[in-house]
Amino acid sequence: MIDRKTIEQIMDVAKVEEVVGDFVALRKRGVNMIGLCPFHNEKTPSFTVSPAKNLWKCFGCGKGGKPVHFIMEHEQLSYPDALRWLAKKYHIEIKERELTDEEKREESIRESLFIINQYALQFFTETLHTTEEGKAIGLNYFRNRGLREETIKKFCLGYSPERRDTFAKTAVAAGYNAELIAKTGVCYSTEDGRLQDRFWGRVIFPVHTISGKVVAFGGRVLQTNAKAAKYVNSPESEIYHKSDHLYGLYFAKQAIMQKDRCILVEGYLDVISMYQAGIQNVVASSGTSLTIGQIRLIHRFTNNVTLLYDGDNAGIKASIRGIDMLLEEGMNINVVLLPDGEDPDSYAQSHSTDEVEEYIERNKVDFIKFKTNLLMSEVGDDPIRRAGLIGDVVKSIAVIPNEILRSEYIKKCSDMLNVAEQLLVKETAKIRMKRAEEQQKQKFENKQEENSENNATAGDDEFRQNIINSYATNPLHHKEKAIIQFLMKNGGKLLQVPEDKLNGTPAFTESVISHLYYSFEADGIEISHPLYKKIFEEASEHKTDIDFDPENHFMAHPDHEISSLAAELCSEHYMLSKFFGGGQEKDGKKKEEDNTRESNTHNDLAVLFEQTTRLAISYKQSIVDEMLKETMARLKDPAVAADPTALQETMEEFKFLKDTQGALNDVLRSYGFGDIALNV
Ligand code: CTP
Ligand code: MN
Repeated sequence: MIDRKTIEQIMDVAKVEEVVGDFVALRKRGVNMIGLCPFHNEKTPSFTVSPAKNLWKCFGCGKGGKPVHFIMEHEQLSYPDALRWLAKKYHIEIKERELTDEEKREESIRESLFIINQYALQFFTETLHTTEEGKAIGLNYFRNRGLREETIKKFCLGYSPERRDTFAKTAVAAGYNAELIAKTGVCYSTEDGRLQDRFWGRVIFPVHTISGKVVAFGGRVLQTNAKAAKYVNSPESEIYHKSDHLYGLYFAKQAIMQKDRCILVEGYLDVISMYQAGIQNVVASSGTSLTIGQIRLIHRFTNNVTLLYDGDNAGIKASIRGIDMLLEEGMNINVVLLPDGEDPDSYAQSHSTDEVEEYIERNKVDFIKFKTNLLMSEVGDDPIRRAGLIGDVVKSIAVIPNEILRSEYIKKCSDMLNVAEQLLVKETAKIRMKRAEEQQKQKFENKQEENSENNATAGDDEFRQNIINSYATNPLHHKEKAIIQFLMKNGGKLLQVPEDKLNGTPAFTESVISHLYYSFEADGIEISHPLYKKIFEEASEHKTDIDFDPENHFMAHPDHEISSLAAELCSEHYMLSKFFGGGQEKDGKKKEEDNTRESNTHNDLAVLFEQTTRLAISYKQSIVDEMLKETMARLKDPAVAADPTALQETMEEFKFLKDTQGALNDVLRSYGFGDIALNV
C-alpha cells in the first residue's frame, strides 16, 4: 500500500504533458495540446491534454483523467502499480503503508511463490537450451512442431527432465523452502514426504499474468502413445486461480488493443503458432469453457472477439455457454471454423500471415447466426426439438445488452428459423422481464438482509428507509452520480443560505458539502450506491475543512475505484464546460477558473446555493416518486384492497408522500426558484 502523502506527491510532480508525451506525439493548440488517441483508432486528433489542469481527455472514446490514469490505461497496470511506475519516472521514493502482520505474512508468501515460479522458469528454459537431455528431447520436440528459436525464447518454453526429482533437488539445494515449492505446485509431496516434480519428462509452457509474472505452468507429454494425460497443469494455488487467466494475454495485449479484436483459440500451441505466423492478438482459454473473469480480462482491451476453432465443432459446442456470457458482457462475437482436420496451430504453420488473415476475414460468421445454424442442423424437422431450439436461440439474444443489436439479431433469426419476428420479440421480452424481476428481487432481498442486520430503528423511519433502500438500488443512481460530480467540483466551495424570516434564522455561509450533508441528514436520506455513498461520507468528514479540494482529494485517493471515478467525473465536467474554454476566452477575464475561496464572490455564493438546493430537492423528489410508485402498486393489490387495515395504512402512506411532494415544491418556491428542480 502506498500512503496518501506519497500519492499526492506523485500526483503533484507527474506532468500530464510529459507522461502522455512519452507515448503520444502532442502538438500545441491554444493552451492545450492535442494528439492521436492511443486507445482507439483515429485519423484526426481528438485526444487533448491540458497542462494547466494536469488532465488528459479523449473526445473520441471518452477516456480521460490524471497522468496516473493514462498509465493505468496505456500500460494496463493496476492503480498502485501505475503510481509506482510514475514514482520511478520522477525518482520519488515510495513509502508504502505499514502492513499488518497478517498482510505481511500473506504478501511474503505470495511473493515467495512468484520468486520460486521465476526460478523454476529459469530452470526449465536452461534445461531446454543447455542440457543434453533438454536439447535432444525438448528442443527437438519444439523444432519438430515448427517453432523457431525466437518463438521458443519469446514464450519462455522449457523442458523438465525425466528424472522425477531433478527440479526438486536443485531448488532445495539452492535454498528454496520445500513447503513453499510445493505450494507453487511445481512439485508435490509424496505420502512418505519426498518432494517430486510434477512436470517430469514434459515440455513446459509457462503461463504469465497480464503484467508478465509467471503464475503457472503447463507440461505436455512427448510420446503420443502415452497413457498419461496429454497436458498436466499447475494446480490452483495462493497465486494461481485458473479462471482468472488466459494463456498468451501478456504477449497479445498490445496487439489486441491495436487491432481492437481478440482471437480466441483453445490450446497453447494454437496461440504460439499463430503468433509465430504474425498474428499476435491471440489468446487461449486452455481447453475449458470461458469464465466471467477471463471475459472481463478480454473486455479490458476490446469489445470484439473472434473464436477460431477446429473444423469439427466439438470445442465450440462445449463452450457455447461461455460464449453466451460474452454476449451478456456486450461483446461482438464471431466464429471462424477451420477446414476439416485443421486447428489454428496446423493452419498457421502451413499458411502465410496474409492467408490466415484472409481466411478469417472471409469465413467469419456472427455468433448468433452460427449457433442458429448449428442447432438447426441438429434438430431437423422434429417440431418439439425445433421449439426447443427457438427457445435456445432466444435465450442467447435476450442477454445482449444493446437493444439495437438485439432487434437486428431477432430479424436475422426470424428469417433463418422461419418464425414470425413478433414472436421472437415477445419471447425475448419475456426472458428479459423475468431476468429483471429476478435481479430486482435479489437486490431487494440483499437490502432486506442488510437492513435487518444494521437497522435497529423502528416504525415510521424504518418504513421510509426500507422503501428508499429498496427503490434506491437503481433508478436513483444517476441522480446520485450527478450529486457526486457536483460535489467533486464544488463541494469545498462556500454557499450562502439566505435569511429565513419565518423561523427567524439569519443568513449564513457554509460549504456545499456541509449544506448537502445536513439537508440529507434532516430527511434521513442515505446515498444508495455504495461507491457514491463512500465518497459522500468521506467528503462529509471535510465539511468544515477550509482547504478541502474534493477533486484532487478523490483523484489522488488510495482506493483505485474512487480515484478512477473521480477522474471520470472530473474529465466529464471539463468536457461539458471549460476544459477547452480557458484559451478561447477573448477578454481574458475568465481565463483560468480559480478554485480558491477568495474567488467566491457574493454572487457565486447565491448561485451555488441555488444549484445545490435544486440538486438536493431534485434527488429527494425522485426518492418520493419511487416511493409513490410502490405505494400505488400496493393500493392496486387485491390483497390490500380486501384488508381494511392494510388499505387504511396504505392510503395514509400515500397521502403522506403526496404531502411530501408538495412540501418539496414549496421549498423551491419559497426561494423563488420555481417548481422545477434542476433536471439531471
Ligand atoms: N488441455 C489440458 N489438459 C489436457 C488436455 C488439454 O489442459 N489433458 C488444454 C491445453 O491448454 C491444450 C488445450 O486444452 O492446449 C487444447 O487441448 P488439445 O486440443 O487436446 O491440445 P492442443 O493444444 O491441440 O495440443 P497439441 O497440438 O500439442 O496436441
Ligand atoms: Mn493441436
